[in-house]
Amino acid sequence: PKVTYIEHNGTIHEVEVADGYSVMEGAINNAIPGIDGDCGGSCACATCHVYVDPAWLAKTGERSEMEESMLDFAAEVEENSRLGCQIKMSAELDGLIVRMPEAQH
Ligand code: FES
Repeated sequence: PKVTYIEHNGTIHEVEVADGYSVMEGAINNAIPGIDGDCGGSCACATCHVYVDPAWLAKTGERSEMEESMLDFAAEVEENSRLGCQIKMSAELDGLIVRMPEAQH
């Protein structure tokens, strides 16, 4: 499935992220700036904070409780904030668009 990552400065990265990989891993594997993923995807660092494009919110689903409490440590949290490591790619999410927050740049 394809993911479009939009950096805070507007730079667009369109990449293929294999099924089962997370939005965070997709960014790391493609050296896309703006997502660090310091904890390796265990929902413990909040450096993979992304904004899910509103059109995709229904498909990406709800934050987990753990994710919710981790987001308390992130800056500039909005309604559509998610942790990239908690969104796993699947065919359903083909075309997903996420934006990175300024603070993570
Ligand atoms: Fe650490 Fe997502 S990579 S919370």
